[in-house]
Amino acid sequence: MSDATIEEFYREERTFPPSEEFKAQALVTDDSLYEEAAKDFEGFWARQARELLTWFDDFETVLEWDLPYAKWFVEGKLNVSYNCLDRHVEAGRGDKVAYYWEGEPGDTRTITYSELLDEVSRFANVLKGLGLERGDRIAIYMPMIPELPIAMLACTRIGVAHSVIFGGFSPDSIVDRVHDGEARAVVTADAGNRRGAPSALKPNVDIALRDCPTVEHVVVVNRCDTDIEMVDGRDHWYHDLMAEASPDCPPEHMDSEDLLYLLYTSGTTAKPKGIMHTTGGYLTQVAFTQKYVFDLHADTDIYWCAADIGWVTGHSYIVYGPLAIGCTSIIYEGTPDTPGKDRLWDIVERYGVTQLYTAPTAIRTFMKWGEQEPARHDLSSIKLLGTVGEPINPEAWMWYHNNIGGGRCPIVDTWWQTETGAQMISPLPGVTPTKPGSGCFPLPGIGAEVVDKSGRPVEVGGGYLTLTTPWPAMLRGIWGDPERYFKTYWSEYEGRYFAGDGAKVDEDGYFWLLGRVDDVMNVSGHRISTTEVESALVDHDAVAEAAVVGATDATTGQAIIGYCILVSGVEASDELGEELRRHVSTKLGPIARPKTVILVPDLPKTRSGKIMRRLLRDVAEGRELGDTTTLADASVVEEIRHRAETHEED
Ligand code: PRX
Repeated sequence: MSDATIEEFYREERTFPPSEEFKAQALVTDDSLYEEAAKDFEGFWARQARELLTWFDDFETVLEWDLPYAKWFVEGKLNVSYNCLDRHVEAGRGDKVAYYWEGEPGDTRTITYSELLDEVSRFANVLKGLGLERGDRIAIYMPMIPELPIAMLACTRIGVAHSVIFGGFSPDSIVDRVHDGEARAVVTADAGNRRGAPSALKPNVDIALRDCPTVEHVVVVNRCDTDIEMVDGRDHWYHDLMAEASPDCPPEHMDSEDLLYLLYTSGTTAKPKGIMHTTGGYLTQVAFTQKYVFDLHADTDIYWCAADIGWVTGHSYIVYGPLAIGCTSIIYEGTPDTPGKDRLWDIVERYGVTQLYTAPTAIRTFMKWGEQEPARHDLSSIKLLGTVGEPINPEAWMWYHNNIGGGRCPIVDTWWQTETGAQMISPLPGVTPTKPGSGCFPLPGIGAEVVDKSGRPVEVGGGYLTLTTPWPAMLRGIWGDPERYFKTYWSEYEGRYFAGDGAKVDEDGYFWLLGRVDDVMNVSGHRISTTEVESALVDHDAVAEAAVVGATDATTGQAIIGYCILVSGVEASDELGEELRRHVSTKLGPIARPKTVILVPDLPKTRSGKIMRRLLRDVAEGRELGDTTTLADASVVEEIRHRAETHEED
């Protein structure tokens, strides 16, 4: 095999073309967007920018590209909050609902576009009153309450860049991010509701701010009425400041390339990278994908992205995308199992959700909980389903398709990253016949290619996913570290952005994402993706979720170790472990058969739900554990280690 690319073993024969019923109402049903973009991708994006957004001053040059630096819609002037709010109100849609918000305890708020504009303008004035100016940065550390998008939009109104820090992060993570971005203020809440109880936020900010000299002010939303300390002169209640603030705040005319926000990607080891996103290009691609990938009919649909706004998914597809196109969406504060394991399906039924966007990790959790949970609810309002964040195993795809989509809804499996800012590889739902587990094709206007180790394009087969042309929502750099920006993304393959992911292309040109290349295993010289072995394990009826790692092995270089969570009701046994090994062998061939399959109650995951394979590798190789601060539940690793040790004794 040439140049050690990633080999492919998994074959998926099922295809799902969009139904006639879906096509009859879809925004796009033919190849015209692909064809237009293939002829002239700059012209294509320029048309989207002008059609989807409102500019104070039109741009002259579409793209200036000096690798690795891009400028999109040069000299164009616009304001993000104006595009998300004012223009809809000016067009007479002020009474349209922007957000149906639901708190975990069951309290609700319905917020129209005019109400949102009013609050955003007031909060923008609050920020100005605290001395914040265009070009400054602030940190936002909040639960999923309406004041979170309000704070973000208020920043964009006055040209302050936000750095949202996920509410599950520790004080140390706040310190790193606030320091690096030199944030002048923090917006937070006393606490947010999680799993039936308040989960503290402000106390974490207090700890962090002992080490953050740049922060002058803290604004606190009273969400849970918990007892917190307020530091005189530094800390202010949101409701006090808002009561005094004027609702009149003209939007700043921002340059297309002005910084919109920083969002830190945690990475597993190194210092977090402050990914920089700017204004015009970002909003263009986010609005485009929001509309066409979700086939969103802004007048009638009720859209729900069930992610956290603290991640890029929430930035792009809870806040900026839905509001830019003026649709109605849902925000839910809490966890999916409170008060019952059917909370999501209950919300879908009550609001009549038409599009649902969630992550494979959530879908596999729903599988584990069983199909009786969604079956209790009428989910017939759903027209389309989406997934993001990880490769989705074909069996999880099928479960989602059948149990949530009632077998009738297209699934858009969307590949993208914090760095790409918006979706890059995905089906267009009225056009693309989907295959379970495949992201299908690069979207119109996006250039992506799989290459081998030496950078030569792979026509059919496995390799490394690269992006070949600049795209409007691309990151503009890593805050304060241009060298790291070039080195991390642009130095591996000349002239290409390397995403860090493995992928394969099949005979029909479909892209299949194979996970991070750091996770690829090398067994007797064969490069095998963890994703494919995991999919083969989940393909077995007894398995709800699987994680696979390569552990050092004296004979084969690496040996495949599989960790599996069983579906509820199935008993763990050595025989079952053996059966699972055989199952993989049948599906993928003997080379991919795991050396060991360990049946576990849970798997270590990051807060955004990605499996921490590094930890599992450490466990498999009997090493001490590395850093577990981004782990959602650290005790899980101990339990897994225990199982692994008992297994060895066997
Ligand atoms: O490995 C890919 C995986 O998630 C990574 C990006 O993570 P993050 O920056 O946290 O953003 C997640 C939300 C956009 C990618 O490099 N990933 C994301 N979506 C998919 C995926 N892997 C396979 N299929 C996807 N649809």
